[in-house]
Amino acid sequence: MSEYTNPNLILETAKLEPGEVTWRSPSNLAIIKYWGKHGRQLPKNPSISLTLSSAFTDTKLEYKPKESGDNAISLKFFFHEEENEPFRQRLVGFLEGVKDIFPFLGQLDLTIHSGNSFPHSSGIASSASAMSALALCLCSLEDRFFETLDDDEEFDRKASYVARLGSGSACRSIYPVAALWGEYSEVPGSSDLYAVPMKEHIHETFQHFHDDILIVSSKPKKVGSSAGHNLMENNPFAEVRYADARRRLHFLLEAMKKGDLETFGNIAENEALTLHGLMMSGNPSYILMQPGTISVIDRIREYRAETGNPVYFSLDAGPNVHVLYPEDIIHEVRPFIEEELLPFCEESTWLQDWVGEGPVEL
Ligand code: PMV
Repeated sequence: MSEYTNPNLILETAKLEPGEVTWRSPSNLAIIKYWGKHGRQLPKNPSISLTLSSAFTDTKLEYKPKESGDNAISLKFFFHEEENEPFRQRLVGFLEGVKDIFPFLGQLDLTIHSGNSFPHSSGIASSASAMSALALCLCSLEDRFFETLDDDEEFDRKASYVARLGSGSACRSIYPVAALWGEYSEVPGSSDLYAVPMKEHIHETFQHFHDDILIVSSKPKKVGSSAGHNLMENNPFAEVRYADARRRLHFLLEAMKKGDLETFGNIAENEALTLHGLMMSGNPSYILMQPGTISVIDRIREYRAETGNPVYFSLDAGPNVHVLYPEDIIHEVRPFIEEELLPFCEESTWLQDWVGEGPVEL
């Protein structure tokens, strides 16, 4: 049972014409990280992220009245136009899990075509963009069939809630510029159940911020996010970590409001290293950083000391490095990345990304 359970959303399939809906949804980069969960995808601490632009997923959901009489999810899934059984199975599990929210899904034959803007297995996590795009498609279907989500705010909130059930971090991709997920007394309306938009609380500087993603390695991760979250249950530093994330969030929000790059950057870097520190201090312990990750981090810190340019790094749960900097120094930073950081990357691969305006229906 969920807060959005609605047994009334049942179709008269005899009248239903086949149709489709398509959404493009971006990835996001958490500055205060979500790491550790409980219950049904509920976070142990609040997190805040920047919404990205050029790393996105396009998802087309086609539907028609079901031919068989049962109520099970019927799904064909194509990733970059090829059938993909492991992804299909994961999505069937997710869609079965949200059938109490969207009971009409059991009445349809569904086909999903999905693709990412970034190369397949480039090492860029795609669950946030993929699950948010799918959640938006589901909300669009509900609205098309039942006209229940014509209020934009309610539409986004429900999409964020549903995206969260697919992948926690995906709930933050629904909103432009920045989003906060997790109940936090300083942000009215914040919730563990969905993210809330933060654009209005963010200084201009961060609204046009850059986040270039350097691919140090595109190999599949040794330990995935779900296992990583679970390992927090026995991590001896877990409770301190959750308290510290809340404490830092206060200072980060202040810095993001004022445009204080130094405080922002210091917190961003510390959060990234804390995330990896938690992985290294778990039992079993694991390391996702690669030698190239450390080399890039070192070089960024040296560059900052040498030039005074506010260039900072962040990491996701993987070896790749996000290079963060404001728009006004792009012409200095890009050559630095190309000349000095790309040699540490796999086949010099990187994705130029920046803070964006959130998902769009295509
Ligand atoms: O959404 P998940 O379950 O894949 O977890 C993502 C966790 C991090 O990306 C490491 C941090 C975050 O807040 O996005």
